[in-house]
Amino acid sequence: MKDMERRIIFATGNEGKMKEIRLILKDLGLEILSMKEAGIQADIQEDGSTFQENAVIKAKAVMELSGAVVLADDSGLEVDYLNKEPGIYSARYLGEDTSYRIKNKSLIDRLEGVPNEKRTARFVCVIAAALPDGRVLTTRGTVEGIIGYEERGEGGFGYDPIFYLPEYGCSTAELSMEMKNKLSHRGKALRAMKELLREALGAAKEERNP
Ligand code: IMP
Repeated sequence: MKDMERRIIFATGNEGKMKEIRLILKDLGLEILSMKEAGIQADIQEDGSTFQENAVIKAKAVMELSGAVVLADDSGLEVDYLNKEPGIYSARYLGEDTSYRIKNKSLIDRLEGVPNEKRTARFVCVIAAALPDGRVLTTRGTVEGIIGYEERGEGGFGYDPIFYLPEYGCSTAELSMEMKNKLSHRGKALRAMKELLREALGAAKEERNP
């Protein structure tokens, strides 16, 4: 394995995500750096029209700047009754700086009078890996739930307090961090990516040292 392939850069500035990512990918035995730790600064335009396009745009842009294996994610909440809004605009819904109290209240209000069976929603996460040899790998993870009638729970972040898991009888803001990682869209996509990377980087190593 070339030195560049011993390091993976995760294209995020979010420390919470880095913690989760390091935990899930730790048995790959690679060094996992944030953009800051890798000394990379980039303001990347996420102008794709799907989670997949946005994740690939970010991963490729940082791979081109660094020459390293780069992972990036894009995630959000799809509410079926609202034609899958806020979707790729989840972070930007009602404005990037608007509090989630307000964003969550807005979604609850827009579903006023809508019965449980039509309140279906999912969190989606796509992870993209851009390899220096030009290969691009992607994985997708989802978690299905319904939009609740009020905010519940103090854990998690973003839309977690209104995302209700009927089979667990709680919102994702009421789960332990461990349980959320196990069930979450990001956890699922990351674990699938770990297997793809094991194969892709392992195969690259074998080609050089048959
Ligand atoms: P990004 O993937 O960092 O661009 O952000 C996606 C946005 O989707 C976040 O800012 C949240 O609004 C929302 N989101 C993604 N994953 C979760 C989650 O696990 N819980 C709550 N909100 C989430």
